[in-house]
Amino acid sequence: MARRRLPHFALEYLECGAEDELSVHANRAAFESIRLVPRTLRDVSARSIATRFEGGDASAPIAVGPTGFNGMLWRDADIALAKAAARSGVPFCLATLASASIERVAAATRDWPDTRRWLQLYMFKDRQCTLELLQRARDAGFTSIVLTTDATVYGNRNWEARNYRGFKQPNFRNLLNAATRWRWLANVYAPGLPRFENLDAFIGKRASALDAAEWIERQMDTTLNWRDVQWLRERWDGTLILKGILDADDAAQAVRCAVNSIVVTNHGGRQLDGAIPSIAALPAIADAVGARAEILLDSGVRRGMDVIKARRLGAQGVLLGRATLYGVAAAGERGAWRALEIMRAEIDNGLAQLGCASLDQLADIAIA
Ligand SMILES: Cc1cc2nc3c(=O)[nH]c(=O)nc-3n(C[C@H](O)[C@H](O)[C@H](O)COP(=O)(O)O)c2cc1C
Repeated sequence: MARRRLPHFALEYLECGAEDELSVHANRAAFESIRLVPRTLRDVSARSIATRFEGGDASAPIAVGPTGFNGMLWRDADIALAKAAARSGVPFCLATLASASIERVAAATRDWPDTRRWLQLYMFKDRQCTLELLQRARDAGFTSIVLTTDATVYGNRNWEARNYRGFKQPNFRNLLNAATRWRWLANVYAPGLPRFENLDAFIGKRASALDAAEWIERQMDTTLNWRDVQWLRERWDGTLILKGILDADDAAQAVRCAVNSIVVTNHGGRQLDGAIPSIAALPAIADAVGARAEILLDSGVRRGMDVIKARRLGAQGVLLGRATLYGVAAAGERGAWRALEIMRAEIDNGLAQLGCASLDQLADIAIA
């Protein structure tokens, strides 16, 4: 449905990766190559896929991961995703470069007092901006900060050069194509193109997309290093999650910096092309970390069985990127909710067929 509704350039923004998309494909191939050995004759009549991660309960071992500029896919897509996550009983992570602000997401999910909202953080050179974002997150009741560590240098995404004239300004061929997507035009284009609302305070509401892009590029701190993680740890007393780990030594270093969790990820194949799939990196990282921090994973998760495999290999929970973006791009909040429901139903079905009544029983399942 998303493919039918979106113009070509927006669909590429959702789906594509860096360069030859080796890591995008490797993510799927790595999940597909894992085989589990089901157990049999075990009573699975009373099942639950509920779990705890990041210090809270979740109806399933999944969370909606951070994705920037969602407003290009659906008007107020961040709000739609946040509400769908709240209704489904799973955490939602807002991106720094989201189209909806921290405050608007908090207000839109006020009816779910137990919902967990996380903020993904890009560390800006101007640390005052970062401190302001932290304060706003705290004031709005966000419980976790997710520091992205794998994107201080932007991935080489060739389709961007092909599709745009300037920053996110489709070229003529793409404009013609967009003219045929009338539902997208009415929903996204007509009300005015999305902004990076979290940055309004720094660059002003009237800044053009190009101004915003230049500001972001100027502010991305390529000096980011472990001392900054310590700096952040001292300034955020909620849960701190590092997103961007693929190496076991880095995972061990994260534990030494007293982070609560790490996300094993290759950014969905949108950053380094040729990076190891996160599911392949997971076992060594789980060994290195042990019980000292919680492990989350993303990149390539499309089905419930992928979540089960990640959980079996040592991840406590999984972040969904494109899986829920397809949902929101197809039908807004209803679509995002439906994507989460499909995922939940598949996790339940897979678990039952493995002979497990709960996620903890996955420990009995051998990997072929
Ligand atoms: C359209 C899109 C935008 C993204 N924007 C961000 C972002 O702003 N910050 C971030 O940390 N990760 C971002 N990511 C990466 C996701 O958080 C996540 O790591 C990735 O999507 C997982 O792979 P998957 O899409 O195969 O599930 C983005 C991913 C996509 C698809």
